[in-house]
Amino acid sequence: MTTVLDSLIQQDSPLTTHAIQQACLQRMHGATQGLATFTLPRFTFSDMVLTADALAQAEELLARIRFHSQLAAQVPGRLSGTQALFWGPPGTGKSMAAEAIAGELCLPLYKVNLANVASKWIGETEKHLANLFDQAEKQKAVLLFDEADAIFARRSEVESSHDKNANMGVSYLLQRMETYQGVLLLSTNFKANIDDAFLRRFTAVIEFPLPDKLHRKKLWQHVWQGELQPADQIEMDYLIEHFDLSPSQIHNIAERACLFALMERTPQITQAQLGKSLQRELDKQSAGFIAAHHLAAWTERNVTS
Ligand SMILES: Nc1ncnc2c1ncn2[C@@H]1O[C@H](COP(=O)(O)OP(=O)(O)O)[C@@H](O)[C@H]1O
Ligand SMILES: [Mg+2]
Repeated sequence: MTTVLDSLIQQDSPLTTHAIQQACLQRMHGATQGLATFTLPRFTFSDMVLTADALAQAEELLARIRFHSQLAAQVPGRLSGTQALFWGPPGTGKSMAAEAIAGELCLPLYKVNLANVASKWIGETEKHLANLFDQAEKQKAVLLFDEADAIFARRSEVESSHDKNANMGVSYLLQRMETYQGVLLLSTNFKANIDDAFLRRFTAVIEFPLPDKLHRKKLWQHVWQGELQPADQIEMDYLIEHFDLSPSQIHNIAERACLFALMERTPQITQAQLGKSLQRELDKQSAGFIAAHHLAAWTERNVTS
C-alpha cells in the first residue's frame, strides 16, 4: 500500500505541512465512506465571546480531557470518555465551540454527517460507523455530531421501513457513544427533544443562549479584528441596545460592512455602510417592522449628531 507521502511524491506535489495534512485528511475521508468530514481546527476560545457560565463549563471540559488519566486514578471504576452537549438557538457558537475545543487540544475534528448516516442506513453503514469511531478513538480526535437532532427524534413513532433503518442506526450510535473513550461533542437547537435519561449521560450540558446587551457589546467590540474599524462618530450603543442579534449575525454584519468599506475605499467603516449591512442581515429573515423602525431611528440619530 502506498503511503500518503508516496502519493504526494508521485503527484509531484510540494511537501508542505498543509499538503501533507490535507492528503491525510482525504485518506481518512475515503475510509469512512462520506459519513464524516475531517478538519483541522481554526479556532481557540480566545476567538469567541461566551457567557461566563459557558466559558467556565468549557474550561472544565478541557480540564477533564487533559487530566483524564490522573482523574481515572482518583476514582473507583472505569472513567468514561468526555461527552458534552451544546444547546441553544442557531448562530450562538455551538459548532465554533466544538472547533475551539479541538483547537485548544491541538487535535483534528471529525464531523459526522448525520444526514448521510440516517438516510443511507444499510448493513454496511454500521461497519463504516464502527470504523469511524475506532479510528477517531485511536487518533484521539474530537468527534462532533453537529445538529444531532436526528438522533434524538422520538424513536417510538416509527412507521416506514426507511424510519426503521434510521432507527437501527440510532440505536447503534447511542450504544457506541456510551463506550467511546475519546471526546464526543453533540450540538442541538432543541434541547426539549432530549429525554432526561440521555441528558444525564453527558459530562457537561452547556447552554449557548442568545446574547444579552452586555454580551452583545463584547461581541461588537471583538468583531473588528483588522484595520477597518467603525468611524468614531457612529453611535454603537444604540445598535447594541436595540438590535437583538445573534453572534453569527453580528459577525455577518461586520464582515459585510468591511466589504463595503473596501469596495468604496473608505479608511473607516461609515454609518451608511454599517446601516446597509445591518439592513441586508435583517432582510434575510424579514426581521420586521420594529427592526426597520429602529434602523430608521438609528440612521436619523447618526445623521443629526
Ligand atoms: N460566541 C461567539 N463568539 C464569536 N463569534 C461567534 C460566536 N458564535 C458565533 N460566532 C460567529 O458566527 C459563526 C456561526 O456560528 P456557529 O458556531 O455556526 O453557530 P451555531 O453552531 O450555534 O449555529 C461562527 O463561525 C462565528 O464567526
Ligand atoms: Mg452549528
